[in-house]
Amino acid sequence: MSIFDKKIKFNNEEFIPQFGLGTYELTNTNEIDESIMAALKLGYRHIDTAQIYGNHKQIAKTIKKSGVKREELFITSKIWNKDHGYENAVKAVDRILEELELDYIDLILIHWPTPQRLECWKALEEAVEAGKVKSIGISNFLEEHIDELMKVAKIKPVINQFELHPALPCHSLVEHCRKNNIVVESWGTLIRGKCFEVEQIVELAKKYNKTPAQICLRWAYQLGYVIIPKSSKPERVVDNANFDDFELTQEDMNYIATVKEQRDGPDPSNFNF
Ligand SMILES: NC(=O)c1ccc[n+]([C@@H]2O[C@H](COP(=O)([O-])OP(=O)(O)OC[C@H]3O[C@@H](n4cnc5c(N)ncnc54)[C@H](OP(=O)(O)O)[C@@H]3O)[C@@H](O)[C@H]2O)c1
Repeated sequence: MSIFDKKIKFNNEEFIPQFGLGTYELTNTNEIDESIMAALKLGYRHIDTAQIYGNHKQIAKTIKKSGVKREELFITSKIWNKDHGYENAVKAVDRILEELELDYIDLILIHWPTPQRLECWKALEEAVEAGKVKSIGISNFLEEHIDELMKVAKIKPVINQFELHPALPCHSLVEHCRKNNIVVESWGTLIRGKCFEVEQIVELAKKYNKTPAQICLRWAYQLGYVIIPKSSKPERVVDNANFDDFELTQEDMNYIATVKEQRDGPDPSNFNF
């Protein structure tokens, strides 16, 4: 089975491909087109985007051009923070569908746990009931946000996408998600391109004759996380999918656990909404 066929089951019986393509900061028309076309040609079938990335329309065009069938694809988008009030979230779902030229979206996430997160969740639950979205989930939610949502949700979140990589292994949050039957998805798996500066990762890359990016992806893949590395360069999009021909040993995993902790993105516990 290739990495493109590997799927993880959600608590609502739907499946997500474990490996996909991130699209943050992919805003230049040619870059979007080249990166996504290279990905689809190689076999990627899972694309992660968000309202705030501003690339829905171009992604829709490239998918059309590729000829890949809708039912083969898994598309995630996210409701941006300013749209978390109930009314705005209802409209945002429709806008996402329109921009991506889709009848339904596979997965929509609340992008960050803003103070209006529960109103946003209600709008997402209704979007599921209306058949506009198959699955709904959360992003950058901490344990307390998960507990709060689990108490009131009619539909439980299927996934939590958060900054998660060898320099930010988030053990307790991962465990909390799993205890609540929520799939774990890593963003920034390549330490957002900084994996090339991390001694332990570079050493393991030499040992296996792989790139530091492939070591990080293998680490996350073996831990069972959904991964969505982004690159604007077609050759890297291809290269990033090539981590299925080796296995990190327990000793290697322990060595990666010695990487100095470093958060790259905003901290959800003091994010300025
Ligand atoms: N939910 C959230 O709040 C949130 C936040 C951030 C990201 N995300 C999602 O997660 C995805 C992945 O996270 P990310 O894009 O922040 O970080 P990432 O995938 O860890 O790293 C992307 C960076 O690494 C570089 N890169 C990619 N492949 C490489 C390779 N083989 N060799 C060297 N450099 C390489 C890219 O540059 P080039 O483009 O120049 O190759 C880019 O600068 C995003 O695209 C987005 O879809 C979600």
